[in-house]
Amino acid sequence: MSSTYLVTGAAGFIGSNFLDILVADQEDKRVVVLDKLTYCGNIMSIRHLIDSGRIEFVKGDIADRELVASLLDRYKPQYVINFAAESHVDRSVDDPTPFIKSNFEGVFNLLECCRRQRSAQLASKAEPTLKKYVQISTDEVYGDLEVCAPRPGHKDEAAQLGRTYEMYGEDAFTESYPLKGSSPYSASKASADLLTLSYYRSFGLPVTITRCSNNYGPRQFPEKLIPLVINNILHGKVLPVYGQGTNVRDWIHVDDHARGILAAARHGKPGEVYNFGGYSEKQNIDIVKSLIAIVKDAAAKMPSVAAAYPAALDASDSLITYVTDRPGHDRRYAIDALKAMTTLGWRPLMRFDEGLASTVRWYLENLDWVKSIVDGDYRDYYEHMYANR
Ligand code: NAD
Ligand code: TYD
Repeated sequence: MSSTYLVTGAAGFIGSNFLDILVADQEDKRVVVLDKLTYCGNIMSIRHLIDSGRIEFVKGDIADRELVASLLDRYKPQYVINFAAESHVDRSVDDPTPFIKSNFEGVFNLLECCRRQRSAQLASKAEPTLKKYVQISTDEVYGDLEVCAPRPGHKDEAAQLGRTYEMYGEDAFTESYPLKGSSPYSASKASADLLTLSYYRSFGLPVTITRCSNNYGPRQFPEKLIPLVINNILHGKVLPVYGQGTNVRDWIHVDDHARGILAAARHGKPGEVYNFGGYSEKQNIDIVKSLIAIVKDAAAKMPSVAAAYPAALDASDSLITYVTDRPGHDRRYAIDALKAMTTLGWRPLMRFDEGLASTVRWYLENLDWVKSIVDGDYRDYYEHMYANR
């Protein structure tokens, strides 16, 4: 029997990459996307799927009770997968309000609409149609970890992955780690996680939560470190590194995350949380230095890029500028994803060096996508956030 997926927030970075993986999968399915198209949602990112008829697109807010209820009623999805959120820490420090509205009130509305549909179906002795509500969360709900000198880590997972990597601390987040988000963004996501789990415990709603580390890949909005640095290198602009550049993130390619989400939707247990991470811990300064070399090299091999962005050919470490640190800046994130690896049969497949190079190639081959953003309101955002740092 064919399944219907309602995917919310899928015009953004991770959701749009998830859609590509979902529609390519063999299963016979219908996919409906609900997205508000905030500054971060980009119809260009899903245009190919709309035009080819593989998804149906509805513009709207996950916090809109009537709209969400009517979509559930019309499509009766087996899966509701919620990517919709305000997702940038710096913006949440600048103004927390939209974070509470979308990340908490929006999730409340989705859960409540699902609960009401399920309870009406049960009351009429019908089989509930919803098999799984998946809440896409983040490792940032766990707060941060101490940073120390890198050492080889995670022996069990290293053996399973067949590769070695370095940890910048003694431990990593497991699913039972306490929630202690540091920013309004991470606190709003943690609040939504607690609410989501309460709908399992109190109402039996089949929910599953995924918590992933920092994603990178195509179509990420250039307010986030990697695409921001790529764009600045192209324009010969300084590369703002917060604090000392020693903060550590555990980077995962967005396709690896997307495969994990699909596995959690189909095979995750209701009421459970699954961590996903890339086992690629890096200090920010090392990422920035790698990008300088990769962008410079790639631009030199692409005549159209070299002609349009000659500054990229002269990029060097002298562009790096240490700026005032982010308030409450989390020092280190590191994920222990053993549960997903052992119970969902999931693995992160992309090596960071290969993934970073292919991500740079995507940005250089899709300059129209980048230009459509950086020529708009982004300029005001950049000025507001970076001018006096
Ligand atoms: P994004 O900011 O690129 O995209 C968010 C999308 O949600 C946009 O399309 C936006 O239009 C939409 N949206 C926002 N508010 C909405 C609302 N009220 N109603 C309907 N649509 C709305 O974000 P992303 O990086 O793709 O992140 C997706 C999810 O994954 C978020 O929940 C985020 O917390 C989580 N996450 C992100 C990362 C990361 O590294 N980017 C890591 C772990 C988890
Ligand atoms: P970001 O991409 O905003 O993700 P998150 O804050 O969710 O981890 O930032 C990644 C890291 O890069 C984080 O430690 C902050 C740092 N950073 C900079 O040093 N300069 C920048 O201009 C940005 C956007 C981030």
